[in-house]
Amino acid sequence: SLLRLLVLKFVLSMSAMTVKWRGKPVFIRRRTDDDIKLANSVDVASLRHPEQDAERVKNPEWLVVIGVCTHLGCIPLPNSGDFGGWFCPCHGSHYDISGRIRKGPAPYNLEVPTYSFLEDNKMFIG
Ligand code: FES
Repeated sequence: SLLRLLVLKFVLSMSAMTVKWRGKPVFIRRRTDDDIKLANSVDVASLRHPEQDAERVKNPEWLVVIGVCTHLGCIPLPNSGDFGGWFCPCHGSHYDISGRIRKGPAPYNLEVPTYSFLEDNKMFIG
């Protein structure tokens, strides 16, 4: 239904934003070349929830994840934690710049919603 869909238009200077989709926050982050390098420098086999960065993005410049901690559902804080991504203050889960769990109790990576790019500066979530 239309309620499930969200079309976002963003400006090129934007680096991060949070939108609400189906009652949940969605984090959208524009990543630098260094962020992307960092995301790809990880030994995936060493991860609790092993996923390549490339499996989690459609365009490496943009990370889109549901902003709900996979431990018990708190909302992680941006630009925090030990891995350049998010930190969940409830029980100390650290997520990296790909939204992958790196430290703390959360069992899974931040979930990637279904989305697509309509144009360079327009995204469709749902
Ligand atoms: Fe995030 Fe527990 S809810 S660490």
